[in-house]
Amino acid sequence: MCGIVGYIGKNQAAPFLLHGLEKLEYRGYDSSGIAICSDNKIKLEKKKGRLQILCDKIKDINVSGTIGIGHTRWATHGKPSDVNAHPHLSQSGKIAIVHNGIIENYITLKNFLIDKGYNFLSDTDTEVVAQLIDYLYNGNIFDAVNEAIKKLEGSYALAVLCGDEPDKLIAVKKDNPLIIGLGDNENYIASDVPAILSRTRNIFRLNDNEVALITVNDVKIYNNNGEEQNRNVTHVDWDVDSAEKGGYEHFMLKEIMEQPKAIKATIASRIAEDKIRLDDIEFSKEYLQNLNKICIVACGSAYHVGCVAKYVIEKLTRKPVEVDIASEFRYRNPIIDKNTLVIVVSQSGETADTFAALKEAKKMGAKVLSIVNVVGSSIANESDYVLYTWAGPEVAVATTKAYSTQLSLMYILGIYMGEKLGTISQEDVKNYIDSLSQIPQQVEEILKSKDDIYEIAKKYYNSQNVFFIGRNVDYAVCMEGSLKLKEISYIHSEAYAAGELKHGTISLIEDGTLVVSIATQDNLFDKTVSNIREVKSRGASIISITADNKKDKISQISDLPIYLPKTCDIMTPSLSVIPLQLLSYYIALLRECDIDKPRNLAKSVTVE
Ligand code: G6P
Repeated sequence: MCGIVGYIGKNQAAPFLLHGLEKLEYRGYDSSGIAICSDNKIKLEKKKGRLQILCDKIKDINVSGTIGIGHTRWATHGKPSDVNAHPHLSQSGKIAIVHNGIIENYITLKNFLIDKGYNFLSDTDTEVVAQLIDYLYNGNIFDAVNEAIKKLEGSYALAVLCGDEPDKLIAVKKDNPLIIGLGDNENYIASDVPAILSRTRNIFRLNDNEVALITVNDVKIYNNNGEEQNRNVTHVDWDVDSAEKGGYEHFMLKEIMEQPKAIKATIASRIAEDKIRLDDIEFSKEYLQNLNKICIVACGSAYHVGCVAKYVIEKLTRKPVEVDIASEFRYRNPIIDKNTLVIVVSQSGETADTFAALKEAKKMGAKVLSIVNVVGSSIANESDYVLYTWAGPEVAVATTKAYSTQLSLMYILGIYMGEKLGTISQEDVKNYIDSLSQIPQQVEEILKSKDDIYEIAKKYYNSQNVFFIGRNVDYAVCMEGSLKLKEISYIHSEAYAAGELKHGTISLIEDGTLVVSIATQDNLFDKTVSNIREVKSRGASIISITADNKKDKISQISDLPIYLPKTCDIMTPSLSVIPLQLLSYYIALLRECDIDKPRNLAKSVTVE
């Protein structure tokens, strides 16, 4: 993970670096630091803890200079501390670097450099890179960086500053994201767009194994053979507000409230009258018929989208669907071939395990379709086909609108494939499209009752254990509800298939244990109600989520029922997840948790 920024221009570097780091704190926030060069001397300021601690420190000291780099960290090698924070300075004091990624051969390199007389201050893998560049430096920082990266194994986005050459910054990308912002007599380096959005909308995206030489008014990009690369300027049209809190107390609540708009944007261009279009992607009937299976691979909430999609796509296409956690998939030698369609799902498009799983699948001959939010991200670039979610930037670590838009695309995909295969009728297609088109409005309706959910949260925010139960797609949504709750409120919670609870876990139910049940499926409703009775008779307090037309039956056994507008069975997850997001949010709020930046987590997980 980690966030990187860099600045070179005519203005003071520090204000941009600190502002950019604030926008990148979602990538990690256990320490931060900046390095600024002035009069050929590099000055380093770094602090353990949130960025604000660094900002408070810098307020009182002079860190002037018009070239600099900065970093916000999510620790991998070496605990969070001032000394392990980036930037790292080489022994000579000439070279400072910031790094996102992992140098896998750092111990070998470290031993080599110790033999050459280098002393190390930190426990990080990154410091090795600073010392290695220093060792190879011969008056030309660009050459030294190029030589150094030939010796590195692992993943690295780097920004490099050299005291002897204060007219240039070097940026390197391999397996971690890095962009270059193009200003007027100033240029920027950043891990992600929000960092530079207040300064420029014109960017270059670096590809893997590229090195950029950045000066005040020029950017040159080279591949690993030293050949200069032409790069078109990408214009970013995100509005600045969508990367800001816009009056909400937290990004998470803002992003929850943005879901109707985000879902609408994601589905609208893919529905033309009674037909689904997959942008410019066309799967032939023959290709789909020959598919032996579909594998969905992702991490975290994106994996939970896959868990819903399994039920949906199998129902609509009658093709077997496997769902894998990416970190498992990549090492389990999966049985896939050219007749397997692999769907990878990722908000950031940079998740290391998902990216590695994608490469693995391609190596085995499968076609890969990715569902991604960040345009031009590594996963999008490597995929055979890409469907973008149009959720806009998501900042809160706990995803909400990315989950909802990913889910919408799964419906789009399922209907498209079902129609092509002839496994659903034209009338079904029309009905599903109708239902999907109503989802944004229905989500809007549910969001209007957010104050009711707040009242529910007030009753239960002191819970110590929470169980989420449901069947079929409801079970898959339970997984997401449970993850949401635990990641931001730190309450232990588990999701269980309602019918499975009695095979062990029910022994944990006692007086007052909170059980959140979802019962939206007509054909399974009575079964789930029986499971709710089982826990209720053992003392559980019940919050139940069901459709409006089930009021009579559920109100008798539920302490707090939540009713959803009616939609078709497969699309209820788009609605039932909303109260769960709000419940987690308000419980975390009442527990005074750091909602947008929960402990130990980061938004973009670019390490295995
Ligand atoms: C982190 C985030 C989750 C996200 C997961 C996968 O754990 O906190 O919200 O679902 O990574 O990220 P991706 O960017 O691949 O969707």
